[in-house]
Amino acid sequence: MKIAIASDHGGYELKKSLVEFLKSKKIEVEDLGTEGTESVDYPDFAILVGEKVSLKKVDAGILACGTGIGMSIVANKFKNVRAAVVADEYTAKMAKEHNNANVLCLGGRVRNVEEVKKIVSIWLETAYAGGRHDRRLEKIQEIEKRNMK
Ligand code: RB5
Repeated sequence: MKIAIASDHGGYELKKSLVEFLKSKKIEVEDLGTEGTESVDYPDFAILVGEKVSLKKVDAGILACGTGIGMSIVANKFKNVRAAVVADEYTAKMAKEHNNANVLCLGGRVRNVEEVKKIVSIWLETAYAGGRHDRRLEKIQEIEKRNMK
């Protein structure tokens, strides 16, 4: 499995820990920056992951900023991207099981690293349930077809 990851300054320390965490799980990681705690603009990094996931160059993406919110707003502008802001174990499970979220958006100022590792593990290990959820995801694809060229 290959995951693209990026952050702004607000999510930088979290991203650094997650890169090591994912590698320890034998997941291939493409780290797209940022490279330090200097202030940057989250859209510049969200688009890097959004593009990779949209074009299916990677299996999934992880984005971290202060809250995860800005990253998710940008990532969801890309076709085929289902980005979810997740801050607890229940929403981590549901983001995959019901929404088949392929980009996880995390807040470096919301949860500590150990809590986030648990959230990431749940998201990785949960299977998409399909069934009635397929119909809902198909409706999202219809919106993309209408609104995204
Ligand atoms: C940067 O201070 C902060 O606004 C950003 O990291 C993020 O939380 C935006 O959604």
